[in-house]
Amino acid sequence: MLAYGFKSNGGPEVLEEIQVPTPAPGPGQVLIEVAYAGVNFAEVQHRRGEFGEPDGPGGYDVPGLEVSGTVAALGPGTAGPAVGEQVAAYLPAFGGYAEFAVAGTDFVRPVGALPLASAAGVPCVYPTAYGVLEDAGRLRAGETVLIHAAAGGVGSAAARIARALGAAHVFGTVGSAEKTGLAAGLGYDALFAREDFVDAVLEVTAGRGADLVLDPVGGAVRRASLTVLAPFGRVVTYGDLGRHGDWTADVWDLWKNSRSIAGYNMGDVARRSPAVIGEHLAQALSALASGTLPHTPPTVVPPAEVAEVHRRLEAGGTQGKTVFDIARRG
Ligand SMILES: NC(=O)c1ccc[n+]([C@@H]2O[C@H](COP(=O)([O-])OP(=O)(O)OC[C@H]3O[C@@H](n4cnc5c(N)ncnc54)[C@H](OP(=O)(O)O)[C@@H]3O)[C@@H](O)[C@H]2O)c1
Repeated sequence: MLAYGFKSNGGPEVLEEIQVPTPAPGPGQVLIEVAYAGVNFAEVQHRRGEFGEPDGPGGYDVPGLEVSGTVAALGPGTAGPAVGEQVAAYLPAFGGYAEFAVAGTDFVRPVGALPLASAAGVPCVYPTAYGVLEDAGRLRAGETVLIHAAAGGVGSAAARIARALGAAHVFGTVGSAEKTGLAAGLGYDALFAREDFVDAVLEVTAGRGADLVLDPVGGAVRRASLTVLAPFGRVVTYGDLGRHGDWTADVWDLWKNSRSIAGYNMGDVARRSPAVIGEHLAQALSALASGTLPHTPPTVVPPAEVAEVHRRLEAGGTQGKTVFDIARRG
């Protein structure tokens, strides 16, 4: 089958169009003929080598954490979606940038009335957004939420979900001044430039701060986020976009200021609580299809643009969600 992958870690130029064997579904798995593949920042990390060296068939790794498409075959003894059903799937072991992908039934749900292009951007992004807000962040109705990397895939989904879960105010930070104008379209009360978000958040909350901060950026942004927490406020960490590496929090600072730091890792949840991912995926597909959860349709591009899309994502130049139309050539 046709796929897009890399044989050595490196910059976007290592991504190439390749031929690899069509994967075979094992017990508890389905084979999906991929219609659309969502693009995530984790695939940039995969390509760079942050998850190890490529070791797939022919020495290639095929990135891709989420797809939509049609069930083509079931693995031995698999009970789940029927052959021919249109589904969306999270792929914890990657493989989405391809004509076919294999997924465990825990992570496969019918798309229902949601168009396949929109559904492709749901299986990684939305369970993460629900997970950081509800499971790690313990969001309660009436609270104020601050979302870093606000205009991206997870960020823009989290803004809408936070509102649907009853947040009273939803603010965000972005890396460039031009993106602050996207606030209303993405469901935010306001977007701030990340470099001086502390003053902006304290001003807009009359000094009280945010109850919940979602932080995939890390480094100085993470440290500063602790200083804008309202009493019993939480910072949820779930990425290191700035490549700052690990740091140590001062527990006495948490104690003396009634603040908390929490973590969320979808790979860990998928291994230890897979049902949680399936529940959030079903919840998101249904809310998006019914319109209960508003969303902006993704940017659809041919997979031949894979290197360019990675370049833009890495440079912080994207907004919302991008998906590959796997069958589109040129
Ligand atoms: N823990 C988990 O289970 C989990 C699951 C899914 C995603 N994530 C994490 O969530 C984050 C967002 O993922 P996504 O796929 O939705 O990506 P994305 O938000 O669509 O794209 C990345 C965005 O982050 C912002 N950003 C901030 N600092 C950056 C930097 N130093 N370099 C590049 N971009 C930077 C950029 O916008 P602005 O600078 O304008 O804000 C950029 O558009 C990533 O860190 C990803 O690893 C974690």
